Amino acid sequence: MSAPIAIIGTGLAGLSAAQALHTAGLAVQLFDKSRGSGGRMASKRSDAGSLDLGAQYFTARDRRFMETVQQWQARGWVAEWDPQLYNSREGRLSPSPDEQVRWVGTPRMSAITRAMLGALPVHFSCRITEVFRGEQHWTLQDAEGQSHGPFSSVIIATPAPQATALLAATPKLASAAANVVMEPTWAVALSFATALDTPVEGCFVQDSPLDWLARSTSKPGRDANPDTWVLHASSAWSRQHLDLGKEAVIEQLLGAFAEMIGCAVPAPSNALAHRWLYARPASGHEWGALADADHGIYVCGDWCLSGRVEGAWLSGQEAARRLLEHRRE
Ligand code: FAD
Ligand code: NAI
Repeated sequence: MSAPIAIIGTGLAGLSAAQALHTAGLAVQLFDKSRGSGGRMASKRSDAGSLDLGAQYFTARDRRFMETVQQWQARGWVAEWDPQLYNSREGRLSPSPDEQVRWVGTPRMSAITRAMLGALPVHFSCRITEVFRGEQHWTLQDAEGQSHGPFSSVIIATPAPQATALLAATPKLASAAANVVMEPTWAVALSFATALDTPVEGCFVQDSPLDWLARSTSKPGRDANPDTWVLHASSAWSRQHLDLGKEAVIEQLLGAFAEMIGCAVPAPSNALAHRWLYARPASGHEWGALADADHGIYVCGDWCLSGRVEGAWLSGQEAARRLLEHRRE
């Protein structure tokens, strides 16, 4: 039996690849620096329940992803979210309904990757710092100085800047990843003991420090109390305020929210801020995945495609497909 395949990153891309390889009968071993799976689809536990601070919802346009999402729905991992959508431009709020189907994990975004992980072997709180190849096999080194291996192949499923650091053995792939710029996003969650007097449940925002806000409590499977909102700052604002303290970020984004939401906004009963340093690629790519198949190293992630949940899943599938194809040759 050949050595297992190492997968670095348990976001959707890494788990998409892991599932495809596991289904094909190959052994995988996953690693993540965080305490749990999900990456940018993770949900943070707070006094106001679980909060989706990263991905808010997702759409499915590719046929293969649509079929997969339907299976997730049948298993109860996801449900449709049909919010009262608004648009805010130049400070003016207006209803902006559409026909787009939007999905969320239930009862929280992280439910999807958690279910996908199932019983697959994983090391959490394990930050990989080096990936190197011996004569035949790959070995990983973690931040504690421990080695993991041998592995027949490695799939790196992290944001591009974190992938670059792990690609020293394949300079061509390292330079492709190094050229991908990823923009930050400041996220703020606010809870109100009394529900805000507004019909807004989701809003695309222009001309403001904010670019999106969602009423978490309107998503299926979430607690109705307290009334909790997630605000996302625009990439430009987040970049300009990258090192601002969390309290100041909360104050400024709460101010922008109060200005645009069109109803009285009392002091929140709870507020927290989270900075996503590598939230989204500045532009999309059409790579699917990057690979040096002869040496057995593959790279996937949302940034190899559309920078969305769907792109992450498709990219993981593509990395697995290329690995399986190479094994058959
Ligand atoms: P990630 O989810 O980033 O997973 C990478 C994993 O690798 C992480 O778990 C990380 O801990 C781990 N890792 C990194 N480096 C190492 C290392 N050295 N060693 C071990 N582990 C490591 N998409 C949508 O479709 N709709 C949305 O509404 C939406 N909103 C978003 C809002 C925000 C604020 C953010 C941040 C993202 C949003 N996205 C949205 C994008 C979506 O979340 C991503 O496209 C998708 O989750 C990316 O998945 P991934 O597996 O490629 O990467
Ligand atoms: P989508 O089709 O709902 O949205 C795509 C874009 O179309 C929106 O950003 C918005 O500008 C516009 N739009 C869609 N419906 C609208 C409506 N009813 N009224 C006004 N404008 C509307 O979803 P898709 O294509 O799956 O995109 C995912 C979403 O995730 C996007 O909104 C994107 O900005 C967001 N995202 C945020 C990240 C972050 O770091 N903040 C990272 C990655 C994605």
